[in-house]
Amino acid sequence: MCGIVGYIGKADAASFLINGLRRLEYRGDDSAGLAVMEDGRIAVAKSPGKVSTLSDRARAEWPADRFERATTGIAHTRWATHGPPTEVNAHPHLDRSGAIALVHNGIIENYRGLRARLEAKGHLFLSETDTEVLAHLIGDCDKGDVFQAVCHALHQVEGTFGIAVLTAREPGKIIAARRGSPIVIGVGEGETIVASDASAILAHTQRVIYLDDNDIAIVSADSVDIRDLNNVPVIREIAELGIDAAAAEKDGYEHFMLKEIHEQPHSLANAIRGRLDFNLGSAVLSGMGTSARELAELGRVVLVGCGTSLHAGLVGEYAFEDLADLHAEVQQAAEFRYRNPILGSRDLVVAISQSGETADTLAAVREARQKGAFVMSLCNVVGSTIARETGRGVYLHAGPEISVASTKAFTCQVAVLLMMALKLGRGRRFCRDEGIRLAREIERIPQFVEEVIRLDEPIAAIAESYAMTEHAFFIGRGPMFPVALEGALKVKEISYIHAEGYHAAELKHGPIALLEKDTPVIAIACDIPGKDKTLGNIEECRARGARILGLITDGDQEAAAHMDDAIAIPRCHPLVATIPAAVALQLFAYHLARHRGCEIDQPRNLAKSVTVE
Ligand code: G6P
Repeated sequence: MCGIVGYIGKADAASFLINGLRRLEYRGDDSAGLAVMEDGRIAVAKSPGKVSTLSDRARAEWPADRFERATTGIAHTRWATHGPPTEVNAHPHLDRSGAIALVHNGIIENYRGLRARLEAKGHLFLSETDTEVLAHLIGDCDKGDVFQAVCHALHQVEGTFGIAVLTAREPGKIIAARRGSPIVIGVGEGETIVASDASAILAHTQRVIYLDDNDIAIVSADSVDIRDLNNVPVIREIAELGIDAAAAEKDGYEHFMLKEIHEQPHSLANAIRGRLDFNLGSAVLSGMGTSARELAELGRVVLVGCGTSLHAGLVGEYAFEDLADLHAEVQQAAEFRYRNPILGSRDLVVAISQSGETADTLAAVREARQKGAFVMSLCNVVGSTIARETGRGVYLHAGPEISVASTKAFTCQVAVLLMMALKLGRGRRFCRDEGIRLAREIERIPQFVEEVIRLDEPIAAIAESYAMTEHAFFIGRGPMFPVALEGALKVKEISYIHAEGYHAAELKHGPIALLEKDTPVIAIACDIPGKDKTLGNIEECRARGARILGLITDGDQEAAAHMDDAIAIPRCHPLVATIPAAVALQLFAYHLARHRGCEIDQPRNLAKSVTVE
């Protein structure tokens, strides 16, 4: 979604900010802008479109020496909420005097009332955004001390914000604050970086400070002073990012998505390493922070998330029920937070989020904590808000995921959920030998995935022959039902083909009416319980002329006979098989999109991390 970068130090600020915005572009955006401080004045450049367009515009319109002289500035990539992605709606926005510039992530919910009040005082607004209202409000509160003005203004706003403010009156400072939208500060040598996402920082320093909600920081080239909104100093420790900058590069691959698909044997090995106990036949997940007794007393697991993370939760639901004999349910986080969920101290709520910043999942965490449930998280981004607020959980260790369409985070989420279910299952249901058998299967997941990745070329050839379709259906049963949903989501996200996932039995309750000659049906018919029924459903589709691409278990001739095309995945435990099956569908979606010439890493309208409701 929107991205913020601020820089104060010794380098050419404009170039630094443009490079920083490029690192955030993966989050999804539609316009961009920057403001730098030059000779006590603020210079602004903005543009609809990509960061490269902004860069070209600033280089064409600004005097060349501005790039050498300005060493302080703020910048933004916008994902439109209030008003279309035009130049005038792009950030930074200025206050009435032009001496205060603001970039903002989040939504100011009471902006209409504030705008009307300011208009009555003579303020004129140029844009349709909520952000411009906040810029004017800060200007209106300014009685000579911009920090106080920002505090005063933030006391009046409702909603969420991560902001960076530049003021011509105090050129050696940037003021940053957050409530609900992340801000991380990179502490370099004689330079300080403010960003909404560590990706804009990691090439420069590994030392970072995460702001908490309602923190406000006054940042200079060599100091970071953090207070609360009542001007009371607060202490925030400097943390080490621990991310290799090279991990966020394409590394010779055509797209980040392909790189991330191919990385999965490695990322899964990282997610699993050291977490299986072959002696006890269990899993070691110390971050869960729960005693054996607490786990034994649990009555229910509720998994919450959005998008791909929600689909991982749906696989987890099968795992907790099958392996741990535990009532499990999955709830879309936005629904969960508003529906008055019934929760108690014997309920475990697991928030699943790659980014750890998804607004609805974060709100679900707060709701669950309020109601006294055990709350933990499965996040990929270390130090993210959800990971910090839950305080317990399991990191995925998948490494930075840059492509908007999630791949390696999904498979690592499923692997971690399987290990959680194994741990709970050993405490409640199955014996040591059974636990050891499952642990051995989980250990082999990277190898199973490696085997699927070797099929990259044949899958690309199959995808080419489906690339011109406008509709596709994905079907599966049991734990493969959520994999079908995820397969359809991948295809929609990056190839813009209209794809829907259904339970294999559900097709005939309506969607089958849409099947015509050669409509693609991608059927997950691996050799797991329910396969025969799925084969029956496939025949129903074939009888109506559909073209069937089957995901089958390697060597299963019986299933192969029902398919027009087939991709074979290794034989493994039915829950474990969800991971190689998902990888095969990721490759299929990727190659469909490539054959259609789509912009794979940054699909239209999508954002990597959705920090608004
Ligand atoms: C966005 C992304 C999806 C992601 C979802 C949840 O919609 O485009 O790929 O699955 O957010 O994100 P999270 O970071 O919470 O897993």
